[in-house]
Amino acid sequence: MCAMNTQNKMIIAIDGPAASGKGTLARALAKKLNFAHMDTGALYRATAFELIGSGLSTRDKKDAVDAAQILVKKINNAQQPADILDNASLREDRIGLEASKIAAYPRVREVLRALQRSFLENPGKGFAGAILDGRDIGTVIAPSAPLKLFVTASVEVRAERRLKELQSKGLAVTYGAVLKDMRERDTRDTERKAAPMKPADDAVIVDSSDLDAGQMLEKAMFLAKERLKL
Ligand code: DC
Repeated sequence: MCAMNTQNKMIIAIDGPAASGKGTLARALAKKLNFAHMDTGALYRATAFELIGSGLSTRDKKDAVDAAQILVKKINNAQQPADILDNASLREDRIGLEASKIAAYPRVREVLRALQRSFLENPGKGFAGAILDGRDIGTVIAPSAPLKLFVTASVEVRAERRLKELQSKGLAVTYGAVLKDMRERDTRDTERKAAPMKPADDAVIVDSSDLDAGQMLEKAMFLAKERLKL
């Protein structure tokens, strides 16, 4: 394992709301820079999925903490940890909504924080750095990251994007329902007490409303070269 601690600071933090384009940007940037990538939303989704799969409710904080601990153990013991998070069922909107509920529990965040910090310390052999995307990366997980991006777009633009994505998978959904779910999730993620979604003071705000994936990557690459001295 290549030990790359946070002092080396080859870290990019990307935060933003659902369907802002942060995940697409994080993956593209990681590929381009040969950085390891962690989609931290998948950790919350997988925790919610684990709970629901065991017939439990996301309303029970203790069960949610247990589910987070089980997930961390599974990931730590897996040969290919990425496979656990690379599950299409995790991407469902109902799992995103449930994930945002358990993400408000401080103890759940604490359990998942340890995993994210250890990824930062040690992103894996052969990688030049680490990129994490989520809601609290620039503010809590990696506050000393030299490049922090907060990717955003209006809730209407994001709901339109999510609608197209769901329709392309053959799902019968309405714009109104998608917009309502997205507003609900935004409110919960922004208004919770524990590590609420917000841009770090030193984050660069990127409005993705009128930018395509290529333009976003170009902008982020320019900033990465400048801030990480690549
Ligand atoms: O990024 P996503 O849509 O996959 O995230 C799902 C939920 O997980 C999101 O609504 C809030 C929570 N989350 C969080 O609280 N902190 C993170 N760093 C990432 C996600």
